[in-house]
Amino acid sequence: MAQPKEKEEQSLKPIVAVSKRRGFVFPGSEIYGGLSNTFDYGPNGIEVLTNLKRLWWEYFVHRRDDVLGLDSSILLHPRVWEASGHISNFNDPLMDCKKCKTRVRVDKFLEDKEGEGAATGKSLEELTNTIREKAYACPTCGTIGSFTDARQFNLMFKTSHGASEEGATDIYLRPETAQGIFINFKNVTQIARKKVPFGIAQIGKSFRNEIMARQFIFRTREFEQMEMEFFCEPGTQKEWFKYWVDYCMDWLVNVVGLKKENLRVREHEKEELSFYSDSTSDIEYKYPFGWGELWGIASRTDYDLTQHEKFSSEDLKYHDLDQKKKYLPYVVEPALGLNRLFLAVLCDAYEEEKLEKDDIRTVLRFGKRVSPMKVAIFPLMKKDGLDAKAKEIYADLRNHWYVDYDESGAIGKRYRRHDEIGTPFCITVDYDTMSDGTVTIRERDSMKQERIPVSEIKSYLIQRMV
Ligand code: GAP
Repeated sequence: MAQPKEKEEQSLKPIVAVSKRRGFVFPGSEIYGGLSNTFDYGPNGIEVLTNLKRLWWEYFVHRRDDVLGLDSSILLHPRVWEASGHISNFNDPLMDCKKCKTRVRVDKFLEDKEGEGAATGKSLEELTNTIREKAYACPTCGTIGSFTDARQFNLMFKTSHGASEEGATDIYLRPETAQGIFINFKNVTQIARKKVPFGIAQIGKSFRNEIMARQFIFRTREFEQMEMEFFCEPGTQKEWFKYWVDYCMDWLVNVVGLKKENLRVREHEKEELSFYSDSTSDIEYKYPFGWGELWGIASRTDYDLTQHEKFSSEDLKYHDLDQKKKYLPYVVEPALGLNRLFLAVLCDAYEEEKLEKDDIRTVLRFGKRVSPMKVAIFPLMKKDGLDAKAKEIYADLRNHWYVDYDESGAIGKRYRRHDEIGTPFCITVDYDTMSDGTVTIRERDSMKQERIPVSEIKSYLIQRMV
């Protein structure tokens, strides 16, 4: 259910605060007063993003015989977007307040007022009339009846290609990574000697001039996608579609570690489907502001390859040597937004845990494969050789994991700092370490502490690091 902007912002407040405090996400261009809807990922944020990308690549490319990777350009020939339909169809309906010039996305504005689905199937005229009849006020200046008619606005970012102004052509920053895959279908098929069914995967930045960019990093104008186009024989797409929905869900729960109860699959109704799609489902996550799309999985038929064949005049058909026939494969596409996944991971991990005496501990219970740092090493004191011993352990462990060494402040504070970063294990070197060769190892979630010999630290961690 859509919520008004203020409520959404309120619901994300603790996540935004811990993100800034612990170096996950900073507001963009902050020292210049900020640039709205842009974000920079700090030292811990980049670790989580990198871990998520690596896990996706491992499970969608490396561990499979039927998927290969690609890294195509952000800037593509302008005809690509004519062929794909983005120039004519990639629009959002918007209207402006004539008084204060606020621009709103009409469908989302109506959904905020009346709930999910309120704008579905409505024409521009119907949207305009509904907003006028119900006398909805401008969200910024509060004026009633000041909106222009709703009109379509293309979401692609335009830029110029070429050094001199005269010779420059208009091109676009890609709004999805998918088209770079379709236009390389022939290249990859020729070099890879893969038989259909097979997929091509890509991770990269995409850009959309979103009108209602909001909800922290949920909807931004610059974001990263992890997309895979899976090419299959026409007639087999339904089976593959179901297979990929299950595979994606399994990856989210069993690899990334998201809670099952915070995920659901929402199948698109017939009237909601893109004209080229014969099935689409979204995997949605229960964000603090409500259920929202995390991963779109679409069966796209042969629409994209047909269009590129038509616009490029290249033969893109697949030669099936076993069946002795040529055809354009159908495509099933799981398309995931990395930044939305990161937000889901943060929300899922975040907990304010009540301890004794009204003490509250903020802890990020990340899955161990996702957490930015895996272990932190603390010397109890910066003297009597404790620091040297702790540094020795640190130097050894950093060959295996991303590890922190921290000698500043009270031990309790150091634990809390790493709880907020989500570090699964903290190791303390104390005076007993110097006499009996053991350390204290503390587990983030239970806060349980154990003493183990220094010589067993690595095997202890290996067993528990999944
Ligand atoms: N190639 C198909 C495609 O791009 P999409 O549903 O428009 O489909 C796929 O996008 C995913 O990309 C979404 O499920 C979402 O996770 C992410 N995404 C889309 N727009 C976004 C935005 N403005 N900000 C952040 N993530 C976005």
